[in-house]
Amino acid sequence: MRNKFAPSALKVSAPGKIHLLGEHAVVYGKPALLATIDLRVTVSISPAKKFSGNSVFKRIIEPIIKKKFNLQKIPSYKLEVNSQIPLGCGLGSSAAISAAYIGALLSFLKIKWDLNLINKLTFEAEKVFHGNPSGADNRTVIFGGITIPSKLANNFVLINTGKPAETTKEMVELVAVHKDKYKKIFDDQERLVKELLPVLKNGNKQEFIRIIREGEKNLESIGVVSIFVKSIIRQIEKAGGAAKICGAGGKTKATGILLAYHPEKKVIEKIAGSLNLPFFNVALGVEGLRQNH
Ligand code: MEV
Repeated sequence: MRNKFAPSALKVSAPGKIHLLGEHAVVYGKPALLATIDLRVTVSISPAKKFSGNSVFKRIIEPIIKKKFNLQKIPSYKLEVNSQIPLGCGLGSSAAISAAYIGALLSFLKIKWDLNLINKLTFEAEKVFHGNPSGADNRTVIFGGITIPSKLANNFVLINTGKPAETTKEMVELVAVHKDKYKKIFDDQERLVKELLPVLKNGNKQEFIRIIREGEKNLESIGVVSIFVKSIIRQIEKAGGAAKICGAGGKTKATGILLAYHPEKKVIEKIAGSLNLPFFNVALGVEGLRQNH
């Protein structure tokens, strides 16, 4: 039986995200469309005599909290991180872990939650992880959103091409080298994001396919899609669907998650299966950061 006087763990969870469109261009102030997914990271903190848990996360998060609240020391605790989100594959795992850890640590320190503040602090953590983040990932996993018509949402499949050899930071830096040359592409990505907005309301499948295909071409033009993944995407397009990388991408081989769409989603599942790539469905637009009881 649980000792009713023993302090219980504080649990905070945050969802992952997908980029419907606009990754990379968003780093240069262009709009992006992201949606939360129903895979979550849960961070638990419970008082302990000595710290235990992932010290890499601790070394990133604690200094941010200490600086903000002018603390010399944080009492020791046990840190547990459980993730349903595949790590480092473009589904916002770093933002979700940071947000949930910061939320749990604030509760542990009895500091009142303020989502805007947690968002700012998570953005600081994202800078440590990614160098020059846009802030879109942290904002999405904290505040939640967006929902899209079920006739589109029901035909999404996420294909996992594997963890990229390059980090998000490296991919963002790679694009930064040629950012002036890519200006027209970022502008075009902005046009597509704007064209996607009404489609997310009216659910027009053919328009959705066209926009995702054009958006993916732009991502390929800035060098964030490997040859291996381009060939998978061409197969999906040939079969009448559309697919794009989701997040920072990769140049060597794997690019993380592919967001794939086909009016008959079995067609995509068959392609992924024939390539021995894991695939799964997610619900979109779930709640952002929350305390779990
Ligand atoms: C990473 O999930 C998305 C990028 O646009 C970087 C960022 O927005 O910070 C590649």
